Amino acid sequence: MNDMDDFIYSNYLVNYSKKKNLERLFCAYQSPAHRNTYVNDHSLAALYMITRGRSIIGVMDKIIRQHIDVFRDVESVVDFGGGPGTFLFALRKFKTVNKYTNVERSDAFIGIMNVLVEEFLSSSAPPIHVESISCNYLKLESQDIPINDLCVFSYTFCECDNPLVSISGLVEKSNMVLIIEPGTPSGFNNIIQARDKLIEKGFSTIAPCTASNGFCPLRDSESDWCHFVERVDRSRIQRHLKNGVLGYEYEKYSYLLMSKSPIQSDGKRIISRPDYTKHSVSFDICSEKNSHIVVTKRENKNEFKIVKKSIRGDLYREDQGKT
Ligand SMILES: C[S@@+](CC[C@H](N)C(=O)[O-])C[C@H]1O[C@@H](n2cnc3c(N)ncnc32)[C@H](O)[C@@H]1O
Repeated sequence: MNDMDDFIYSNYLVNYSKKKNLERLFCAYQSPAHRNTYVNDHSLAALYMITRGRSIIGVMDKIIRQHIDVFRDVESVVDFGGGPGTFLFALRKFKTVNKYTNVERSDAFIGIMNVLVEEFLSSSAPPIHVESISCNYLKLESQDIPINDLCVFSYTFCECDNPLVSISGLVEKSNMVLIIEPGTPSGFNNIIQARDKLIEKGFSTIAPCTASNGFCPLRDSESDWCHFVERVDRSRIQRHLKNGVLGYEYEKYSYLLMSKSPIQSDGKRIISRPDYTKHSVSFDICSEKNSHIVVTKRENKNEFKIVKKSIRGDLYREDQGKT
């Protein structure tokens, strides 16, 4: 990623007005449904990649690592609102996809993706076939979408009015769907609504949900929502562009990974921040019953040793620690 930072920084010369445009875009991202987040400038699209894109790649990286068995089989991807190809650059660290299609309304983002693909992926073996469809994906007919192993919607529903009206048609040609949204109540709301629609289309949840029968313990909660947090390193250039001093940031996200082939999880997802004391750890899990877990050192030393290293988003296995 540092090579990409340097390449973008030197080719899309950053001056005061470009940095201000980026700050304006970040401001708009704080309430994307109400402000103009449309990017029609090549420099801004390039700077997005090494600022927002970099943090989102950190989140994608985490999700891919947690479900590497599933992502290993992915050969073709359709990325709706793929921006500068963020998901392509996240996935290629783990494997080479054969075909990646970005369905994107901004020609500036498509242009930057093509430049980055030429610079960083053109010598990939086997070659990756990268193409784009320049359009508003909400108006795309399913016959115009290529058949794919996985379709992705990453931080894009939050920018659309009524993003879910067309989801059933958009996923028609996919075996799996990955949705990532900001880790806010409204991001989670988009995820839960999308999950209902995808269940109707015959998809089953791979992650993060581990409760059975489509139950969600946080669906009607007034004080919490399903989200996770990833600590992502910040490069020197990113710190400069974001006016930040810390060498890292925390990216909150909500996500959903679904497949037409059901896959059984071998544990229950931890969905709260664990509460640690010297002698016990307690947390909530995504389960239809017994969803609050307390593990004490006195009752189960081995399990306590394992569980005390867990964080929100990890899987809790009831028999862990048993020999
Ligand atoms: C915040 S960016 C996310 C880009 C990329 N998916 C990522 O995770 O970094 C949102 C992207 O969705 C695109 N987008 C939003 N609504 C769209 C629509 N209706 N049709 C096509 N692209 C759309 C925007 O142009 C932008 O590239």
